[in-house]
Amino acid sequence: MLEQIIFSHSILVKIFLGFLVAGFAIPLMTVKEPQKFKKASFIYTMMFQALATMIAFTGVVALVMGDFGMTFSIILMIVIWAIMMFIEIKKYKLIKVANLSDEKTRGLLKSAFIKISAVQVLLVIMMVVLKIMEVKGVISLS
Ligand code: HEM
Repeated sequence: MLEQIIFSHSILVKIFLGFLVAGFAIPLMTVKEPQKFKKASFIYTMMFQALATMIAFTGVVALVMGDFGMTFSIILMIVIWAIMMFIEIKKYKLIKVANLSDEKTRGLLKSAFIKISAVQVLLVIMMVVLKIMEVKGVISLS
């Protein structure tokens, strides 16, 4: 059972990574349509939160079931999760209230979207690589 939960957690992390990469298309595809950008950002943030919540849920269940305790690796996962949620909500609030008919504002927000997605992708890749290195015994995150 625990193995299945950790497997689900791990698969969800990979799906999340794919979702983040696909998200780069949003600012690129809606370059000239401010309303579409707003709508797509809203749907994106909802899906982001749904996936992140599933990751946290499976993580917490695994944590309780496996009695892992608060290792450095777990603390790092929780911190990364919280940072990603925080910047995603901040980004969405900015896009929601912005006047996107203004070309300069639109340009700034689109580049912020791409930069934030890049940071999120890097954080997830970093965590996955650290876990792989831990499993292979290269590093210890306990
Ligand atoms: C509230 C947030 C989270 C909790 C409570 C949590 C908890 C856990 C637990 C208990 C394990 C299994 C024990 C271990 O390998 O140390 C695990 C594995 C893992 N977690 Fe998380 N996690 C969370 C968020 C995340 C996030 C945001 C990522 C990616 C950025 C992530 C990536 C991983 C990976 C790659 C594994 C290894 C899976 C495997 O062995 O196949 N976790 N997590």
